[in-house]
Parts: sequence; structure tokens; C-alpha cells
Amino acid sequence: MRGFSVLASWLILGMAAGAGQAPSTLFLSWEGDPRTTMTAQWMRGPGLGQPPSSGKSETLQWRTAGEGEWKERTAEVLEFPDPKLWRKRQIEYSAMQNKKALFPHPTKRKASEWVFLRVRWEGLEPGRTYEFKTGDSPVWKFRTAPAQLEPGMTFAAGGDSDVTPEAEEILRTAASRDPLFIHVGGDLAYSDGQHVEQEMEFWRIYHRAAQTKEGRLIPLVAGIGNHEVQGGYWKPNQTFAQMREKAPFYYALFGGLYRTEEPVALDFGDYLSLLMLDTGHVTPMERQTSWLEKNLESRKGVPWLFSSWHVAAYPSARGWDSQPMSGYARENWIPLIEKSRTAGVFNHHDHDLQRVETEGKAGRKIMVFGNGAIGAGLRWANCEESARLAKFRAMEHHIYVVSLTADKVVVTAVGRQGQELDRTEIRRP
Ligand SMILES: [Fe+2]
Repeated sequence: MRGFSVLASWLILGMAAGAGQAPSTLFLSWEGDPRTTMTAQWMRGPGLGQPPSSGKSETLQWRTAGEGEWKERTAEVLEFPDPKLWRKRQIEYSAMQNKKALFPHPTKRKASEWVFLRVRWEGLEPGRTYEFKTGDSPVWKFRTAPAQLEPGMTFAAGGDSDVTPEAEEILRTAASRDPLFIHVGGDLAYSDGQHVEQEMEFWRIYHRAAQTKEGRLIPLVAGIGNHEVQGGYWKPNQTFAQMREKAPFYYALFGGLYRTEEPVALDFGDYLSLLMLDTGHVTPMERQTSWLEKNLESRKGVPWLFSSWHVAAYPSARGWDSQPMSGYARENWIPLIEKSRTAGVFNHHDHDLQRVETEGKAGRKIMVFGNGAIGAGLRWANCEESARLAKFRAMEHHIYVVSLTADKVVVTAVGRQGQELDRTEIRRP
């Protein structure tokens, strides 16, 4: 009898844990105005808790920090893509067709073992902290961007994470500086738009690392790199819809921000803007140049204007012209940026630390902070042309922490132990 009751309570406890298991991949991002919106997404599937049964969902409770009753939101449930499984099913289906067997059509069968859940907030108050929880999760917090620039406000920017212990250390270091957001400018999970387990591992790492001591989860502002896309780069004659299918994880999670093939400018009121371009992964670079010119021009009055793209204009581990994207950016994007009021550029892709000052042929000299080494395997910088323009170089994992005030920004490259590797002060242009 005692054995039965132990077994029964174990089963009940087990079922309860499954039903409300704290999501270990939950992360925040923005799909609209960072002052008034927020999006939370988390995944379910093997190792991440049971997906809700058909027609069911999970609920999330939230409120302004410390104030009043909890309000409830039901998450939207969406299938998380699993391209390898889709391909396997397609092969099975073709084999069945060849045998003329009467099997059900594969699209009628479960296409993926993974789902993701999404809650979107709109109409929030700027500069407020909110609390939320779901299932058995602790109470987490999020913060909207302030209405005006708050002196000392920081954000972090880097690229090329992968799912390494170094990535987790660097993301923790970034979080310890209390940034409003973390920007990863491409090559997040190294899942290549097809390895779903690797993608899930990245979100586990990001969830664990990108939170403050007070339990505030730090939104991720994502840019695209070659490792988001099957094949890495745009292919001639491919439409945006076709290319988007080659980056299924990226567009599942960030398609709310990247709705068209145009680049995205994320504006934080009238005090900070981040322009995120695509170095030919889904959209050819030539199609983005007039957008860049127009969007730099329309943000002339924004005191802190930054741009980010993945393939470095000033390569370090690669050669000066190893990839045509580098040359295209130097010849077409850098001059526009030199003519603008841009404070700095973030580049990635070469897995080391390099800060270059542009030559200023078209206007002002601009700092280009690179080259993507949050956690990906480090490479040795040997590009001689970039070396002549470089102000700092090191073979170190790092992320840049950018601290803003009204008249200057301080950009600090921080390493795995939180040590300062490089520091630049930029006066308001
Ligand atoms: Fe890359």
C-alpha cells in the first residue's frame, strides 16, 4: 500500500513538473518600438518539456514590477522548423511513391517534434520594469527602453557566438554590465539553418547567461550571418521567400522584426538607432545601399547612430578581398557612413578582436569595432591592409559594452573574465 502511494505521488509530481516545467530557453526580443513593446519566446520538445497538446497552450502571468494583480496571457503555439526531419520525410515519401504503397501523405504526419511559444506585449510604458512568470518558473523581469537617453545607459554588441563555454562566459560578462540589450550581429548558434538541437542549445545558453543578478532577462537584438542560412549566402535568382526558407530558425524567431528583405533600423526614441544590414546572406548587398543612404540621412538628428553587419569590411583573419562582401562594404557602405553622423560600426565573422579607424576619404574617420568573437573558435589576424588601419588587435573572445551619455560614448571590449581589453571614447559627432 505504501509502495502504491509513493508511486502515485511520484507520478502526480512528475506530471505536474511536465505540465509547468520552467522554460529553459525563454528569451526576449523586440519586434517593434523598444520603448513600448516586448516579445518572449521559448521552445518545447525533446529535453525542453512537453509541447502543449493540440489546441492547448501555456499561460504567462505578468504585471508592472511590484504593482497590483497578476494579469494573464495565453502564448501562441507555433511549430518550430526541423528541416532535417522534413528532408527525411520527403525521402521516405518518394520511396513510398516509388513502391506505390498506400501510406499517408507525410505532410499529414507530425512534421516536427518541436514547437515554440510566443507572447507579445504592446502599449507598455517606456523605462519600466515588468515581472512575469510561466509554469514553475521563477519571477523574471524585463525592462522597456527609456523615453529619453538615461546617462550611463549601456548596450552590448558582438558576433559569432556558437554554443561554446566561452560564449556563455562572454554573455554572462555582458549581462553583468546591466545592458539594455545584447546585439549579436550574426552567427548565433552555428546551426546553419538545419541543426535544430544545436539551435536549442544556443537558446539554453542565452537564457542561462543573459540575465542580471536581479532576474532581469536581457533582450537579444539579432542580425543575420552566414551560419543562419543553409549554404550561407544568397544564390542568384532566388527570391526573398525562397531565401527565407533557407534560414528557417532565424525567420521563425525574428521574422516579426525582419518582415521584408530590407534591412532593419531599430530606433530607441530619438536618442539611439541601430541599423542592421545583411552582407549577402539572404539579400544581395547592392539592394541595400540606397536604403542605407536614405536611413542615415533621415537619422541626422539622432545623437547615437550605429550600424552593424556580419562580414567585416576590414577583415582580420581573412584576406582583404577574400570575400567580395568586404570590398563591396568598403567601396559602397563605408563612404556613406563617413558622410553621415554615425558614431561607430560593428563588424563580425573573423573571430578575433580588431578595431579599425576608416580613412575618412568621404568625410569623417569612423571606428569599426570587430570582428566577432563572442564564443566561436579564435583565429589569428593576418590581413596586412587592415593591420595598417587597425588601432587595436588581439586574439581574444570578447564583446563590446557601449556606455552612452549625452556628449560621449565609451566602447569597451571586455574579455572572458570581464577584463577590459580595449577602450575607445567617441565624442558626439
Ligand atoms: Fe560568419
